[in-house]
Amino acid sequence: MKLNQGLVSYIECCIFPKYDRLYAHGLLHIQYVIDHSFIIAKEYDVDLNMVYCIACYHDLGLLAIDMNREDHAIESGKLLMNDHNLREFFDDKQLQIMKEAIEDHSGSLNRQPRSIYGEIVSDADRDVDIYILAKRQLQTSIKYYPELTSFDDHFERCYQYILHRNKKPFHLWTGNSNILKMMKKFKSDFLNKDFARKVYLDAWNYIEEEGLKEKFVSFYED
Ligand SMILES: [Fe+2]
Ligand SMILES: [Fe+2]
Repeated sequence: MKLNQGLVSYIECCIFPKYDRLYAHGLLHIQYVIDHSFIIAKEYDVDLNMVYCIACYHDLGLLAIDMNREDHAIESGKLLMNDHNLREFFDDKQLQIMKEAIEDHSGSLNRQPRSIYGEIVSDADRDVDIYILAKRQLQTSIKYYPELTSFDDHFERCYQYILHRNKKPFHLWTGNSNILKMMKKFKSDFLNKDFARKVYLDAWNYIEEEGLKEKFVSFYED
């Protein structure tokens, strides 16, 4: 099934720019969630336009002012539902399913997502790529830990955080074997601290070369 090009054009022109102020949850992350959603969706009889649209809107609520971060999934669902332009591509039932999937995407959700669409976006949202994670994590570290000045200070903080998180059991709603394989590799890559340091150092150098450090602090949200 091919994606509806009208939908893709609309999202690329009118939704993606809304992520411009986000870095860790910006387009780097959204493209990652789109890609991983498609990897999982291959195993199911699902509507790929819905899968795509859910991935594109799932963190949009992070930009809402006066919103508790914990509520961003609910806010993102609301933004999708209130976007009347989407009615050209989806009916009421599809929009409701997509809204619920977005509401259910958080890893901290303590119940099963209400549909396979929620399971897909939730599983696609997990960090299983050390290269992407390095950039995202260094951004939040640079933004929120100004007292840390050297690469090694930031790396050590990021490393300990993920090391701790990796000790928790990893649960996938879909049990997708490709994502599980990626997670296994991600965890073993991470345990090799010299390798992880090299990945983070490359990301650090990229950030410096692109002149992103100052922007991370004063322009981007995370
Ligand atoms: Fe999210
Ligand atoms: Fe996300």
